[in-house]
This record gives sequence, C-alpha cells and structure tokens, in this order.
Amino acid sequence: MTRVPKSRMRRSATGRLRRSPVTRTPDPRSPIVLKLGGELLENPTDVRRVAAGIAALAKHAALVVVHGGGREIDAALAAAGIPKQQVDGLRVTDARTLDVVVSVLAGAINTRLVAALRGAGARPVGLTGADAAVVTVRRAAPMTTVAGSKVDLGLVGSPVNNGTPRLLTDLLAGGYVPVVACLGTTRRGEVLNVNADTLASHLAAELQARRLVIAGGTSGVLDDQGHTIEQLSVAGAAKLIRTGTANKGMVAKLEACRAALRKGVGDVLIANGRDVQFGILAEATGPLPGCTQVTR
Ligand SMILES: Nc1ncnc2c1ncn2[C@@H]1O[C@H](COP(=O)(O)OP(=O)(O)OP(=O)(O)O)[C@@H](O)[C@H]1O
Ligand SMILES: [Mg+2]
Repeated sequence: MTRVPKSRMRRSATGRLRRSPVTRTPDPRSPIVLKLGGELLENPTDVRRVAAGIAALAKHAALVVVHGGGREIDAALAAAGIPKQQVDGLRVTDARTLDVVVSVLAGAINTRLVAALRGAGARPVGLTGADAAVVTVRRAAPMTTVAGSKVDLGLVGSPVNNGTPRLLTDLLAGGYVPVVACLGTTRRGEVLNVNADTLASHLAAELQARRLVIAGGTSGVLDDQGHTIEQLSVAGAAKLIRTGTANKGMVAKLEACRAALRKGVGDVLIANGRDVQFGILAEATGPLPGCTQVTR
C-alpha cells in the first residue's frame, strides 16, 4: 500500500485524517515519470528529438520513462493477420496478440529508445515491469465500457500495490534513467499487457512522483472545437468522457491521470511530445502552450 506522509494529510470536519488535495509543495528530490506514446518513437527524427529532450530533462530531475507502442503494435498485428480489438483505448489481448505486444514493446521499441538515449548522453537502462517485480499485476476484471457494455480484456493486467519498486529507486540513485516497457507480471509469473498510461500512473504513485508527464501526438486534451484545454480538473475530465469529447486512447489517459492525482502525485501534464521542450518540464509551473495540466 502506498504510504502518504502525514504532511500530506489533513483533518476533516469529523477529525479524521484524509489525503489533502494536491496543493503541496513538491519535493524537488522526488522523481518525474514521463510517459511517451508509441507514435513518438516510430521514425528516427522523432526518436532523436525525444531522446535529446529526455537527456536534457534528466539533468534536472530523477526521471523514469515509460513507453507505449500502440500504432507499431497495430502494424505488427496487421502483418501477422491478427485482428485488432480495442475498447476505450484498452487493447483486448489474446495469447497471439500478447506475443506481438511483447516482441514489439520490449524488443524493438524499448531497445530503439535506449540506444537513442545513449546517443543523447543519458544513462538509460531498458526494462519491463516484469524485471525485479517493478510492476506486479493481476488479471483485469471485466470492464464496463463508456458505452455501458461489459468486456473481458483477456491477458491485460491491472497494477497492484507492491511497495516502492526498489529496482527503480536504486537505478535513480545511481544516476540511471530507467526506460520501462508497459508489461507486468502476476505474482505467479504470468506476463500481462498493461496500458502504458495506466502503468505510468501506477509507477508515479508508487514513487510519489512530483509530476507525471504524458507526452503523445496531440496538443494535450482537445475540446470539441479542437483547441487545447489548458487546465482540467478530474471532474472536468469525467465530463469530457461522458460527453464523448474524450474517447478512445484519451479515456485510458484521463482515467490514469485521475488515479495518479488521487494517490498523491503532484500534478499531471499532457503534452504534445513533438512540440514540448522536455528540458523545462522539471521546473515549469502554470499553463504551458499546447499542454493540458490536470489537477484534482
Ligand atoms: N479530446 C481528445 N483530445 C485529444 N486526443 C483525443 C481526444 N479524444 C480522443 N483522443 C485520441 O486519443 C489518442 C491518444 O491515445 P492513444 O492511446 O491513441 O495514444 P498514446 O496513448 O499517446 O500512445 P500509446 O497507446 O502508444 O501509449 C489521440 O491520438 C486521439 O486520437
Ligand atoms: Mg494509449
């Protein structure tokens, strides 16, 4: 169970200790978790640019990188003749799909990013949530979709609390940048697919990160006119999902933001990974252009 320091608790009217809303002064020593959407890691120009940004950011903060691989996995599935099925941004995963997910994520994309980071001067270590029980999961329960139907996602994991992931804190203490592909294992040793936003949110909570940055291909969360929403509350995010303005992958992302904030992560920024200057994200406060800040 994630411990919340007393300083982050407040007394309710009945005298009970409760978690405070996120108004705390972030601890500058606590890490930043950066999630990269797979589409930022497909072509060499993007990969080089993102790697240079990460290397710059890693000079200012302890940094854990989590990456997805959505579109590249889709392409590999299509090449293998395996149909793709997603609900509210979550991939329905059977055994054949899982094999593809593991090889594309943990093999091709993770290695490509680690190599680019090395070239950019950072000290990356590539791993998956399976290493040293960094991410322990259990089979996700059948989910109720936004549309109201029940779906069994198959070989998909929901992260469970397993204490602070010691491998990550050891790597951070040594000045390394862990680069985590979004897979987890059950206590019995079964590999499961985990949505990258869900996994990043989980690690941000376990590490009590001062900030979770989710970098993708859109300029943050867009309203129904296609404009960036600069500031979004958890309640506002729920409304965007209800009305359908946020759909597909954005549903999983906003759910992940809500979970991170509820568990004490300082703030969440959803940014366009092609525009944002990664190097400033350790210190930046207030609205940033083309970026959505999600708060409680
Ligand atoms: N209101 C919205 N604002 C922005 N994007 C939205 C919105 N509603 C739906 N989306 C979709 O959500 C997508 C982002 O989620 P998606 O899962 O596709 O990518 P990702 O999470 O960045 O990458 P990966 O799944 O590889 O980790 C956007 O590309 C966009 O199509
Ligand atoms: Mg996604």
